[in-house]
Amino acid sequence: MNYNKKTVKDIDVKGKKVLLRCDFNVPQDKDTLAITDDKRIRAALPTIQYLLDQGAAVIACSHLGKPKNGPEDKFSLAPVAARLGELLGREVVMAKDVVGPDATAKASALQPGQILLLENTRFEKGETKNDPELAKAMASMAQVYVSDAFGAVHRAHASTAGVAAYLPAVSGFLIEKELEIMGGALANPKRPLVAILGGSKVSSKIGVINHLLDIADTIIIGGGMAYTFAKAQGGSVGTSLLESDWLDYCNDMIAKAKEKGVALLLPEDNLCAAEFSADAVPVLHSAMTIPDDMMGMDIGPKTIEAYAAAVKNAGTVIWNGPMGVFEFPSFAEGTRAVAKALAETDAITIIGGGDSAAAVAQLGFADKMTHISTGGGASLEFLEGKELPGVACLLDK
Ligand code: 3PG
Repeated sequence: MNYNKKTVKDIDVKGKKVLLRCDFNVPQDKDTLAITDDKRIRAALPTIQYLLDQGAAVIACSHLGKPKNGPEDKFSLAPVAARLGELLGREVVMAKDVVGPDATAKASALQPGQILLLENTRFEKGETKNDPELAKAMASMAQVYVSDAFGAVHRAHASTAGVAAYLPAVSGFLIEKELEIMGGALANPKRPLVAILGGSKVSSKIGVINHLLDIADTIIIGGGMAYTFAKAQGGSVGTSLLESDWLDYCNDMIAKAKEKGVALLLPEDNLCAAEFSADAVPVLHSAMTIPDDMMGMDIGPKTIEAYAAAVKNAGTVIWNGPMGVFEFPSFAEGTRAVAKALAETDAITIIGGGDSAAAVAQLGFADKMTHISTGGGASLEFLEGKELPGVACLLDK
């Protein structure tokens, strides 16, 4: 995929209406709907500010959650409009619909330097179907399309990809940065390239492992998925997470890594527990001999040492997925130690979104990383080497 895309700097937006797709899919308190983390809103500010400073009128849009049956108050973007207004220090006009009479009237009255936020794009059923009529209606409100919704670029939806058929389409600064850093690490990495993969399921990381086997020098496996590898290698894993259907796949990957000269590191030891609980007492076992009544919950000290050593000598490290149940303090050490190793290495360090981004932030290492991706599913598909519809639709440089 071509990552070299035109950006807002390559197009004249002065006096124009710009449809700006953001990823304002923010976490909210279930009862009060208060935004619990405004990172994604902050991440969009540089592009919004630039467009406003250039004299554009900004029509921002985003999805929020997964509404299935049209408009629903709990999925309204109104709390985002309020927060965005606070952060920008200026009024954000909120539309009551996406392409309905309120949005079109407000968009048409919008002046340079003003910002309008449309309602949740998924209130329109055509959004997730990438309906061309919806895309056309959204595009008709503006003269330029800018996408800065990195977290949603893996979706071929009307507002993330479809609109680009009707307007000149460029990226904002957030997508530009994600493509430059993650794209650069995949296409032309400073070596050795070390990929650390964790999380619960092998099955959700197959595409990533397959792709990284072609480009990485070292692949480190941790988290729940490591137990399926241990079992595949003849180990006993007790009551640990296990995907029995993927045992052959794990052995194939181990063989493929050998064939390609990629070092595939698996845990040597694990902190285990009798039950999945924050209060469970951690007991150390060899990764290949976890007792029948115990489950693996974290990587152990020998594993930490080996993984930290691999990170120390890396040129680039890409990390996706925690090493253990880091939400429970007794089983957070593996994830913490890996985060610390990343914080201390001279390598370019890239955190591929989702749980690993949350872990790095929770453990206090966020500002020590080269880049923390704002995408969850999008980063994963990026690491799989898949074409991302929300990137492919933008103009090439
Ligand atoms: C995310 O939170 O990963 C993005 O906003 C995409 O959301 P979605 O999975 O609902 O498409």
